[in-house]
Amino acid sequence: MQIFIDSADINDIKEAKELGLADGVTTNPTLIMKSGRELKEAIEDIVKIVDGPVLAEVVSQDTEGIVKEGREFASWAENVVVKIPVTEEGLKAVKILRDEKIKTAVTLIFSVSQAILAAKAGADFICPFVGRLDDISHNGMDLISEIVSVYSNYADIRTEVIVASVRTPDHVIQSGLIGAFGVTVPIKIVRQMAKHPLTDTGIERFLQDWEKVKADIN
Ligand code: E4P
Repeated sequence: MQIFIDSADINDIKEAKELGLADGVTTNPTLIMKSGRELKEAIEDIVKIVDGPVLAEVVSQDTEGIVKEGREFASWAENVVVKIPVTEEGLKAVKILRDEKIKTAVTLIFSVSQAILAAKAGADFICPFVGRLDDISHNGMDLISEIVSVYSNYADIRTEVIVASVRTPDHVIQSGLIGAFGVTVPIKIVRQMAKHPLTDTGIERFLQDWEKVKADIN
């Protein structure tokens, strides 16, 4: 399972990398805004520490503008992937960039039909948002199951599913059970994944017993 860190904050990415978790990084304009840095500056620093795909999102709405931004992003480093919202203009840009061998990730996917269009346009990755669907009382993980099922019916679809808008460790577990290519997780979720109350009490008891062993020796 590929773990992408959902952040443009270099400290989050370093922390994840030390845990062996930064297979890639996803950013979006909100995350760039939170990092307080310029997009190019942030991405250039991230690619210095992450070898895998680093997703940088365009803000243009028209095909020409998206393609222009995409070409520029791709010139920053070999592992930069151009993240493009799933609109008709965006899908046309995906096709153009694909023909130029520039990698793309189609984002803001909320339906299977959008996922099919992204695959047909030649996207390398898609980012379906589970948390935002849960927020409106839909089941985000059902969308992932359906997309993975549809994609797996066709050998010619090579688009990989990166589960996005992950809000809980359970989203990560469910993604693994479904067999999604990867998940994009904020560092907060990584920390939650490591925690279990029985681990904490287990350590506490072992340490108490170890103190008794030392007391008996002395
Ligand atoms: C990643 O590709 C998305 O930009 C991100 O996961 C969105 O997460 P959010 O819905 O918590 O903002």
